[in-house]
Amino acid sequence: MQVTWNDIKQHVDSCTQCPLSRIRQRPVMGRGSDHADLMLIAEAPGGDEDAQGVPFVGRSGEILDGLLRDCGLSREQIYITNILKCHPPGNRDPKEEEKDACFPYLKYETFLLKPKIIVCLGRVAAQRIISPDFKITRQHGTWTYRKNYALTATYHPSAILRDLSKYEAARQDFCEIVKKSSKLKTKN
Ligand code: URA
Repeated sequence: MQVTWNDIKQHVDSCTQCPLSRIRQRPVMGRGSDHADLMLIAEAPGGDEDAQGVPFVGRSGEILDGLLRDCGLSREQIYITNILKCHPPGNRDPKEEEKDACFPYLKYETFLLKPKIIVCLGRVAAQRIISPDFKITRQHGTWTYRKNYALTATYHPSAILRDLSKYEAARQDFCEIVKKSSKLKTKN
């Protein structure tokens, strides 16, 4: 049977696979173009996202929009999602069992999207997707190639909010990502 975007959304909306489902206001499914070459993966919805059911609508969303705009991108051209679809209380790090419970949704999103580039936003996503010992400060902007994807990571917008000096490094990473994306396009 062919899985559809609607199937994934319905499963996410009714998910009870981990205890976060009992305290969430709204699950947060990924958003954006379902034909995007670029898939951004962050860690988990924050409080604003929990209230609205949409990824990156809070202050970290403003930072993300700034980075995208600076590199000539908009949300409509990318797909953005999280490892966890429910908000961990107090924005604590996701637990291993929560990440495991939610991972199948991310796999289905990736399978349907078939992005050329996966961008991990922050340590939690990079350590889950790229390598468990990924060091965001040292390794942001580096590339790993796997199956049909090019993978990279940059600072999480919330980390940039806490330390605005990281914005420029993230902006440069995003501009390299855009260049890589157009190179990969011309190869096909
Ligand atoms: N932080 C995240 O990791 N994801 C969101 O959707 C919002 C804030």
